[in-house]
Amino acid sequence: RSLLILNGPNLNMLGTRQPEIYGHTTLSDVEAMCRAHGEKIGVSVTCAQSNHEGELVTLIQQSRGTHDGIVFNAGAYTHTSVALRDAISAAEAKVVELHVSNVHARETFRHYSHIAPVAVGVIAGFGTAGYVLAMDALLTFLETARR
Ligand code: DQA
Repeated sequence: RSLLILNGPNLNMLGTRQPEIYGHTTLSDVEAMCRAHGEKIGVSVTCAQSNHEGELVTLIQQSRGTHDGIVFNAGAYTHTSVALRDAISAAEAKVVELHVSNVHARETFRHYSHIAPVAVGVIAGFGTAGYVLAMDALLTFLETARR
């Protein structure tokens, strides 16, 4: 199995960005955590981050045939991007939508997700530990629902 851990805009600022909301763990800590978890459970892990919507579209397209699933924190594009949703549909990507914060406990504009309807499921509000939870959730889905 091969998983892509994909982070969108401003997530390169994790650890220093509004730590009262997003915590003190940096993106490279998160990526190291995901790689270590992958090694532990025998799954290959690739990590990518971009602040650019089109670049994220390209990465999702390229995941087809390369990765079995994507843990995707689309950041603010979650709430705005039809293009990212279409990319997931076009690539038939198996996505777990991930948010560090509980978006439903925050501003109303964060309650709607363009990604959620085409995702396998959503994990939000567990801080950066959510990335590992999302990896396990995706693997459970791949092992059960897909045979
Ligand atoms: C986020 C939540 C989004 O609303 C926000 O725009 C982000 C981060 C999260 O991980 O909690 O950039 O996706």
